[in-house]
Amino acid sequence: MTYDLNINARALAIKPSATLAVSARANALRAAGKQVLNFSAGEPDFRPPVSVTRHVVERLEEERVAYAPVPGLPALRDAAARELSEYHGRSIGRDEILISCGAKHSLANLFMVTLSPGDEVVIPTPYWVSYPAMVELGSGTPVFVEAAAERGFKLDPERLAGALSDRTRFVVLNSPSNPTGVGYTAAEVRALGEVICAKAPQAWIVCDDIYRKLVFDGYEHVSAFRALEGLTDRVVIVDGVSKSYAMTGYRIGILAAPAPVVKAAAAVQGQTTSGAATPSQWAALEAMTNSAAQEDVVTMRGAFAERRQLMLDGLREVPGVTTVRPDGAFYVFPNFGAYVKGRFADDVALATWLLEEKLVASVPGSAFGAPGHLRLSFATSEDEISEGLRRIKAAIESLASGGAV
Ligand SMILES: Cc1ncc(COP(=O)(O)O)c(C=O)c1O
Repeated sequence: MTYDLNINARALAIKPSATLAVSARANALRAAGKQVLNFSAGEPDFRPPVSVTRHVVERLEEERVAYAPVPGLPALRDAAARELSEYHGRSIGRDEILISCGAKHSLANLFMVTLSPGDEVVIPTPYWVSYPAMVELGSGTPVFVEAAAERGFKLDPERLAGALSDRTRFVVLNSPSNPTGVGYTAAEVRALGEVICAKAPQAWIVCDDIYRKLVFDGYEHVSAFRALEGLTDRVVIVDGVSKSYAMTGYRIGILAAPAPVVKAAAAVQGQTTSGAATPSQWAALEAMTNSAAQEDVVTMRGAFAERRQLMLDGLREVPGVTTVRPDGAFYVFPNFGAYVKGRFADDVALATWLLEEKLVASVPGSAFGAPGHLRLSFATSEDEISEGLRRIKAAIESLASGGAV
């Protein structure tokens, strides 16, 4: 078919999400009857809390589903303001909270209303796939700084200093991180904050706290507001219910930012999506305020902790592969660099081979700006993890012994 409706440069510059592409191929293989083990999932495999589902079903039977106010239902904004005020140890008001259609939308709105051409956003690498695209859509420029595996995938203050300039508008901190699962300590956050204060006093820190409730082994997520005492006027928080309550499909995200930013972002939201779906907001409110739902978070966290251990134990058996221990989220990000060099053109070729030939779906590290790695999600059953790691080990051993690719 020919048509003369041009796709503009802004859209053409956006790469489709690599994580979604792998999931789609894994699903296609599954639909064709193949026994694919899927380590590519970016969402919990649990169901949302039962109390949430019940609550939404009851309200749907009783109430009309009308448009929600653009910035969010007042009760949900208040609940978010209450929870975040308590968590971050500072008073956050309703007018500093915007409810959007997922944390992704919260971030996109933020960059859309705060960035101008020439503004830079510092993004530590490996990064969550969507940050660069969202910054570019907001007409800003991503500036990547490597958070090397040797430093536990954590940003080194000196390296950060090298990336800051008078054009820096934001530094993105995602802890625990997608794709590495590592989380910063308070001292590490403070050290980064000091460099930002010294080198780019105009810059803000945007904390993507979406995984903050999914932490293991006594690691405690660090509130940037609490850690960065001298910088609290320049912190923006992105939070939500997608990961912690296994509610990805509800699409609710929370932005906590100064009232003028929330007002501007709400204006954009009002002309694009309108308010987030009303039943989803009922669900998020229930999740955040019902004590049974908090118990479900604890149960899910326990299951993820066990799977993480299974994953780490299994990866230890794979020759030549090194892994940084994740503190939270549900990902590990092992380095397969020894096999990428020579045998495969790159990590995409390795991931494709593992999927097509060994029926193990992973996400190539280059999607996160870290070639040579694979992201393996443990949001899947223990049986799948054991069998998947057995397949990976056998596949890698066949490479190590010079077997056919
Ligand atoms: C680091 C990070 N931030 C934000 C999001 C977006 O979350 P949501 O599903 O609420 O849009 C994700 C989802 O994969 C993520 O991994």
